[in-house]
Amino acid sequence: MEYPPPRLSVYLTHFLSTLANLTLSEKNLTNGEKKVKVFTQPHYLHNFVQSTFNALSAEKVKGSTLVVSGDGRYYSKDAIQIIIKMAAANGARRVWVGQNGLLSTPAVSAVVRERVGADGSKANGAFILTASHNPGGPNEDFGIKYNMENGGPAPEGITDKIFENTKTIKEYFIAEGLPDVDISAIGISNFSGPDGQFDVDVFDSSSDYVKLMKSIFDFQSIKKLITSPQFSFCYDALHGVAGAYAKRIFVEELGAEESSLLNCVPKEDFGGGHPDPNLTYAKELVARMGLGKNPDSNPPEFGAAADGDADRNMVLGKRFFVTPSDSVAIIAANAVQSIPYFSSGLKGVARSMPTSAALDVVAKSLNLKFFEVPTGWKFFGNLMDAGLCSVCGEESFGTGSDHIREKDGIWAVLAWLSILAYKNRDNLDGGNLVTVEDIVKQHWATYGRHYYTRYDYENVDAGAAKELMAHLVKLQSSISDVNTTIKEIRSDVANVASADEFEYKDPVDGSISKNQGIRYLFEDGSRLVFRLSGTGSEGATIRLYIEQYEKDSSKTGRDSQDTLAPLVEVALKLSKMQVFTGRSAPTVIT
Ligand code: G6P
Ligand code: ZN
Repeated sequence: MEYPPPRLSVYLTHFLSTLANLTLSEKNLTNGEKKVKVFTQPHYLHNFVQSTFNALSAEKVKGSTLVVSGDGRYYSKDAIQIIIKMAAANGARRVWVGQNGLLSTPAVSAVVRERVGADGSKANGAFILTASHNPGGPNEDFGIKYNMENGGPAPEGITDKIFENTKTIKEYFIAEGLPDVDISAIGISNFSGPDGQFDVDVFDSSSDYVKLMKSIFDFQSIKKLITSPQFSFCYDALHGVAGAYAKRIFVEELGAEESSLLNCVPKEDFGGGHPDPNLTYAKELVARMGLGKNPDSNPPEFGAAADGDADRNMVLGKRFFVTPSDSVAIIAANAVQSIPYFSSGLKGVARSMPTSAALDVVAKSLNLKFFEVPTGWKFFGNLMDAGLCSVCGEESFGTGSDHIREKDGIWAVLAWLSILAYKNRDNLDGGNLVTVEDIVKQHWATYGRHYYTRYDYENVDAGAAKELMAHLVKLQSSISDVNTTIKEIRSDVANVASADEFEYKDPVDGSISKNQGIRYLFEDGSRLVFRLSGTGSEGATIRLYIEQYEKDSSKTGRDSQDTLAPLVEVALKLSKMQVFTGRSAPTVIT
């Protein structure tokens, strides 16, 4: 669709914003998640966007191609029009927008890396509009982040600059007179301005991503599984952007019934829900899979969910939960046989520090390079760019590979379906189905089981959370005192062998990340980890990760919460959780 070409110079406005308007000087804005009412303050979004352009440098922005889209949450459409006008005024050559402003975070990464425009152009970077797994709507969250040319989140060097810029910015550039672009219609709009041509290219949100998935997985064998009468399938997008991809991939390409999709129409407020795929928030799916409070009596064989921007995933079998830590280990153990993209072997595997050591055991047994990195996907990106890592994952429901530089919720589901298709390659014409539960239990029998749980204390007073962490660090100065305390709490818990604050030296760029979580490592391989969340939007969130390794295959089938109860008790008493936070129970258990 063509718009009449306005002269940008006529309308170009250099806005002077007073420092009083600037509320950006909060460190976590470079991670970009805040209440909508914060973003809609005069000039707030504008200042963030201009600070980003300034951090990238004017020369880099001039002539560039930028992707702008997100999970479709409330305020996205307004934000996209603002960013288009600012990109024009800062001399960008073109902006690419997914139809209706929708692109999942993994699809943005794929588009930046793979898409070629009609004129042969390639993207230089992307603004992703999402607050991930946090709720949306006028009174809920909005967010923005910038991804680089490799399709991954901006490195700390850039986000630090953005943050510094937000403290001193005095003006921003906006082509106010550029008409709003109709982002519901696919097509290219051309404008001409003082710096020459400026185009807005609205394109289909799913085709680049679908093409990439088809180049990674064997869709034919997955289709055979999904359409076989022994198998049944269910996918819950929690009203997030995954819905736009689920219909295309699971129904149109792979032959799933339309009725197997739950909440797959993206909504600005995620239906009033909390779009986080875990046992607490994905209630409908959990019940459908025969788990939780009102379990369905006839659940499907396989179920999965995604978060708002579709980079997280939860995988469930019939009446069976797969922990994210097990999920990445199982994918790594089966990737070479089951997924064509990996057929020539894995370059290496990686997990975040609080993720269980299930992946470590697989890496050791398959003789793979292995990395333990701090929480946050960007650390995996460096390893992948250097060709050191093929598969990685986090306990926080993130799993992915080097096909892009973000975690990928739908990729994880396709990986699981590929494993199921491979294990059942001879069973689909009437044999007994190898189920999700069978696969996990076989894995435990081979590699041992890492019992694992995470307790979250959300929206805790920030001061109290800091005090709790300081208390835990202080305790680390005497391991023998810690062990005396532990023996008083539970005599059946092993001794702590060492304790520290996790620190990471990036093997690629040599950068050092300190204070990445407090660890207590036990003599029997158990671990307690305490961290403050970096993604909460109110108060502080304390995360407590509890893990215990069981090698004896006769003991790997126990209830996880029962098994971990002694360690949980030690963790809560040692940290004085209730004393510091006033909380007698966590808000979320996963
Ligand atoms: C985001 C990042 C993940 C990270 C998670 C941690 O989702 O993309 O890589 O694991 O945040 O969140 P937390 O709240 O634990 O800091
Ligand atoms: Zn997300």
